[in-house]
Amino acid sequence: MEKIVSLCKRRGFIFQSSEIYGGLNGAWDYGPLGVELKRNLKNCWWRVMVHERDDVVGMDGAILTHPEVLKASGHVEGFSDPMVDCRLTGKRFRADQIPLQSGMVYSFRLVRDAIPPPESFQILAHIAAPYMTAGKKVSTDDAVEIGLLISDRHNLGLEVPTRDPKSVEDFFLNLGDSLKKLPDASIASLGDDFATSYAVSNRTLPQSQAFRVLVQRGETEAKARKVAQSFYRKRLKLPVLVGPFNPTACNDTREFNPENGAELTPPRAFNLMLETHLGAVADEASKVYLRPETAQSIFVQFKNILEVSRKKLPFGIAQIGKAFRNEINPRNFTFRSREFEQMELEYFCRAEQGMDLLEYWKEERLKFYENIGIPRDKLHVLTVPDDERAFYSKGTYDIEYDFPFGRQELEGVAYRTDYDLSQHQKASGKSLEYFDEETKQRFVPHVVEPSAGVDRTVLALICEAYSEDQAPDEKAKMETRIVLRFHPRVAPVKCGVFPLLKNNSQLVAKAKEIVSLLRPHMTVFYDESGAIGRRYRRQDEIGTPFGVTVDFETLGEKDAARRNTVTLRDRDSMKQERVAIQDLPAILRDRLA
Ligand code: GAP
Repeated sequence: MEKIVSLCKRRGFIFQSSEIYGGLNGAWDYGPLGVELKRNLKNCWWRVMVHERDDVVGMDGAILTHPEVLKASGHVEGFSDPMVDCRLTGKRFRADQIPLQSGMVYSFRLVRDAIPPPESFQILAHIAAPYMTAGKKVSTDDAVEIGLLISDRHNLGLEVPTRDPKSVEDFFLNLGDSLKKLPDASIASLGDDFATSYAVSNRTLPQSQAFRVLVQRGETEAKARKVAQSFYRKRLKLPVLVGPFNPTACNDTREFNPENGAELTPPRAFNLMLETHLGAVADEASKVYLRPETAQSIFVQFKNILEVSRKKLPFGIAQIGKAFRNEINPRNFTFRSREFEQMELEYFCRAEQGMDLLEYWKEERLKFYENIGIPRDKLHVLTVPDDERAFYSKGTYDIEYDFPFGRQELEGVAYRTDYDLSQHQKASGKSLEYFDEETKQRFVPHVVEPSAGVDRTVLALICEAYSEDQAPDEKAKMETRIVLRFHPRVAPVKCGVFPLLKNNSQLVAKAKEIVSLLRPHMTVFYDESGAIGRRYRRQDEIGTPFGVTVDFETLGEKDAARRNTVTLRDRDSMKQERVAIQDLPAILRDRLA
């Protein structure tokens, strides 16, 4: 994956957003080649899903969304992920994405909760009582101070401890030993108020919560102690630990940070929607959301579009656009981002057509991916189990792809029943029913939704295209060649045009003529600098499927029959053929189709 990320930056496909300011996590900028690739993908989707069909129309909805829309859809209440925080570093994770871990769990506490021993504790509590007005906590420093007072009063001769934890621990142990040697009467007088003091001290010196650390096989208890020490050091200047208590073997747990073993907080629901405010006052009344999916604007505009398009069921409304989610853990390059694009179709139908259409759209969508260069054997269909499906869905498939970081979802195809339209009808009070002219029935249509991610598909295209092979350099020495084997349909640049020499005006003029000839049909890149082999490599690396070289034969210098012919090079086979310039547009258009 690192090679792919670095190529994306080096050749201008994808950059980190706001990079010169340290980057904005979960947001990405597409460079000159990335934007072409993305556009080609969206154009392919739009052509197949809208232009080539009679039963689908498009729309482009607003990103800013009325809160009532997202209340009705259930997003305000329920669009959340379970979130946990590392108690040591504060790093946030999605609870369900933490890998299962096994090992030994060690618990530690602060020494102030464990010592001093009972007798000295009684006396400490007694002496400390005046200090412990309700709510005032006694720190380790305070406890040492009180211990020194006792030492003074009873000539115990205890030395002021250094800041070394061991020295503090020894100080309290010595104090306990010395107190045991005092006459009983002194102890008794000091312990008179024990009962009340004990109650006070219990309130003001709460037991610190034990801190648990998981160490995996091959790691030591010392590592666990170090992690716990860093946890308490964030709260106290001089934490002195006791433990570990009850080391326990633990299997398949998600309660610890996989990066450092520190325990995690219990899961809490975290709403993923991003909000902003409209107008001058930022209060509850001016709150709006950035849409978390494009689908809701389609449902909300269903009636308008039905009326203007005069479509009959089944028919669909398609949309490509931005969506925003405050993902807990953006990761895997662009795979999980906070700002991303979706390509969604809401295909409305009668209830009895829902399950068949779910199958139909799953197959259509698999064909789509194959047609843009993602082979069938790298795609997988996951039937989402009943207990993981949205409660209103009668069937959902995830189309997954074998990314270098594992098999992950590219697209969801879901039969959402009539849930969305019914919810909006109820909440808005406006009818979203369909009137069937033939049966004279009115009903709320059901919907099947293929919902794909633009950024995830772009990433899949790049991962699928990336390859390295061996090719000869200018001196016929074999070298490693990086090639993006994009399907010509999605390749950002379709054809490179190269005059053999840049200082020959005839070659240059001819090459520029070819650029003008091809440009109305495709994206073309003109390159005259460096050895021709280098120029081929540069185009291979960005996935340009064809290269045209203008040489002396093109000028007819050696053989008049070859005048106005060029070499046409194929990126993948590296084979070259001689073709007439005038045939180039037709040949290339044919191969790009
Ligand atoms: N309207 C249905 C819906 O939004 P989803 O499964 O949450 O369903 C659909 O999202 C697709 O959107 C996903 O399959 C994925 O391709 C893309 N997607 C979702 N969250 C994403 C994220 N944080 N970053 C990039 N793409 C995302």
